[in-house]
Amino acid sequence: MRYRQEIDIVECENVYPPMEDTFLLLGVLEIHPDESVLEMGPGTGLITCHLAASAKSVIAADVNPMAVECTEANLRRNELSGDVRESDLFQNISEQFDLIVFNPPYCPGTEDDNLALAWAGGPDGTEVVDRFLNRAPEHLLPNGRIILLLSTEMNQIALETILRPFQRIELGRQQLFFEEIWVEELRPLEP
Ligand SMILES: C[S@@+](CC[C@H](N)C(=O)[O-])C[C@H]1O[C@@H](n2cnc3c(N)ncnc32)[C@H](O)[C@@H]1O
Repeated sequence: MRYRQEIDIVECENVYPPMEDTFLLLGVLEIHPDESVLEMGPGTGLITCHLAASAKSVIAADVNPMAVECTEANLRRNELSGDVRESDLFQNISEQFDLIVFNPPYCPGTEDDNLALAWAGGPDGTEVVDRFLNRAPEHLLPNGRIILLLSTEMNQIALETILRPFQRIELGRQQLFFEEIWVEELRPLEP
């Protein structure tokens, strides 16, 4: 799926606005019309809106209630439908999906106000990704895949350990001022 110019979103207070990482992820997403998709951490819902326009069904789950409202408002604004839930990772998700997408909080930090939840990934930046990848495989349908944004801001030794149970394909990479970000497609090595 490529970026659809016709999708129009508004940004919301205390919700992560679309940034370079959002656009890198969006640019590499290939969505099949018969796929069920979960976006973890939709923020404003820009990616969720693109998923809702192209996939069979979309659920979005964010721990920040303001991001939930913002994503719902942006789906309505674009006359798209999706199921948006307040959820700490898979807490309120029981379904399985063909595709799970996550642009996670990955910077080292432990702040926990609503906006900091968008970037603070624990002391070495890997805490949320670690918790996410521990649970994600049980929410994948057979042949399901995960698309995950990663960064050199994360502790790379911890990250390599966390990613060991997955088959990995790099889909895209971008050098930013302070860091490099990239997107990987992950499939569990043991279904
Ligand atoms: C880097 S932002 C990405 C937002 C949006 N997907 C984008 O690409 O612009 C990370 C998002 O994950 C959400 N998030 C952080 N921790 C979470 C958790 N434990 N469960 C669900 N969502 C979480 C944040 O609230 C934020 O909306």
